[in-house]
Amino acid sequence: MSLADVKYLPETPAHDPEIEAINDEAFGPGRFVLAAYKIREGGPHERALSFVAVDGDIVVASVRMTRIAAGASRALMLGPLAVRPAFKNLGIGRRLVAIALGAAAKAGVPAVILVGDEPYYGPLGFKRIPRGQISMPRPVDLDRLLSHEIVPGAVAGLVGEVCHADQARVAAHVAAMA
Ligand SMILES: CC(C)(COP(=O)(O)OP(=O)(O)OC[C@H]1O[C@@H](n2cnc3c(N)ncnc32)[C@H](O)[C@@H]1OP(=O)(O)O)[C@@H](O)C(=O)NCCC(=O)NCCS
Repeated sequence: MSLADVKYLPETPAHDPEIEAINDEAFGPGRFVLAAYKIREGGPHERALSFVAVDGDIVVASVRMTRIAAGASRALMLGPLAVRPAFKNLGIGRRLVAIALGAAAKAGVPAVILVGDEPYYGPLGFKRIPRGQISMPRPVDLDRLLSHEIVPGAVAGLVGEVCHADQARVAAHVAAMA
């Protein structure tokens, strides 16, 4: 395998089984109790802004994006990001993050957040979100709450509990009906 053989493609439903297997291998069954998964349970991920790396017909890495809300603000949450073990440390993860951030910016998304390792994501343009600014639906190490700002000032607008954007829409609809 050479890196030149690896292609980066928008995700399609046909990739789903392999993505599930990659995430299972990377994070194990315990992933379902994580705060980020709780948010993702609130609705679908944004397939148009999610990407895979393929070697021939085989999916070797995946990054997904999910629309989220925090207070009145909207953003994307990046993750899961996972690379098959045999393809790690080749720059594939970094490249997928760059592609996803580029697509988010092109789509007019003001900010991207994630729960992850600052030593990895820091050089990719992510910074810690100030403690107490946002909260997650399940416990999370606050030092791992990171953001990438696309529109200046957008991250400061993210306040309160993070949820899937679809849930915020439903809650706003219910409140308007009351
Ligand atoms: C983390 C992960 C996505 C990185 O993807 P990758 O394609 O192997 O990484 P890249 O080739 O883009 O980058 C490799 C560099 O990142 C570093 N790195 C990898 N994981 C890291 C981490 N968790 N924290 C800090 N640095 C990390 C490597 O040591 C390497 O450093 P170097 O360039 O100085 O040698 C991949 O290892 C993976 O799937 N891990 C399991 C799932 C996971 O942890 N996902 C991220 C959630 S935080």
